[in-house]
Amino acid sequence: MTATTAVTVRVPAKVNLKLAVGPAREDGYHDLVNVFHAVALFDEVTVREPRTRAPRGAVRLTVDGDLDSHTARVPLDGTNLAARAARLVAREAGCDDPIELHLRKRIPVAGGMAGGSADAAGALVACDTYFGAGLPPERLRALAADLGSDVAFPLVGGTAVGTGRGEVLAPVDSPGRYHWVFALAEGGLSTADVFAEYDRLRPDAPPPADDPGLRAALAAGDPVRVGAALANDLEPAALSLRPALAGVLAAGRAAGALGAVVSGSGPTCAFLAASADAAAGVAAALDASGRCARTVVAHGDVEGARVVAPAAGG
Ligand code: C5P
Repeated sequence: MTATTAVTVRVPAKVNLKLAVGPAREDGYHDLVNVFHAVALFDEVTVREPRTRAPRGAVRLTVDGDLDSHTARVPLDGTNLAARAARLVAREAGCDDPIELHLRKRIPVAGGMAGGSADAAGALVACDTYFGAGLPPERLRALAADLGSDVAFPLVGGTAVGTGRGEVLAPVDSPGRYHWVFALAEGGLSTADVFAEYDRLRPDAPPPADDPGLRAALAAGDPVRVGAALANDLEPAALSLRPALAGVLAAGRAAGALGAVVSGSGPTCAFLAASADAAAGVAAALDASGRCARTVVAHGDVEGARVVAPAAGG
């Protein structure tokens, strides 16, 4: 049963404040201690009736966004994680009405900021409302975890530590506002390729460990200490596959960032700044350096996926 003609959900990108990676498991995944932080760089996911005739059960996918080179890389077939998310919710709702799923992208594609996972989380929430499924939050989180390791976090947002392969989440109290600059690269990096490079570089990786210093800095709302504690075990692997990122990190540090780190599996680099003004300065310096495709400034943390509109006009 269709509840509404169109539903739009806004869903944030993430940066990893700490990403500790253990050795490869039997199933090929890696145990993680993954401190996620949601930032105000949002994709929008809209679900509506198809505007032209479509067969039952069809999910038609369209995409637009302000980064043409990125939107062109979004798969528009059944492999798209958001389309798979939509199908899961339709099945739970017992509904095979065809739908159109539109992704308005601002999060870089294959950029280490979980944009594809964010779209899947957005599609879960949008389709839950659209189909009137009324799934409880824990059911949505279980569907998210089935879809991918990073899909559950954008449902909840804020700051949270993920264990297991990253999908077992516990919220982290994190008062205060953090000012970030993201240096976007032209081409993406495959998460699986970066983990494989990690295995090559660290065949003897120890089990992943939490960082009490980062937790204390977050509890105190202290950006200087958070900046100093930023750490990503995947960074050497991302730098090995994309050596030019070392120059991006150095340029942001030289411009006064409190901390610099590759975001997730990269190639986006994240810089923490002391204030909104300082972030604007770091972004200007990175833009002038010519070392990245473009920069985006965003604060964190922010809430997770939320319905923002029954979209006007259907
Ligand atoms: O879970 P997801 O599909 O997002 O993971 C993409 C790829 O990243 C996996 O196929 C795997 O190669 C790698 N990965 C991993 N360990 C994790 C999460 C992801 O090895 N905890």
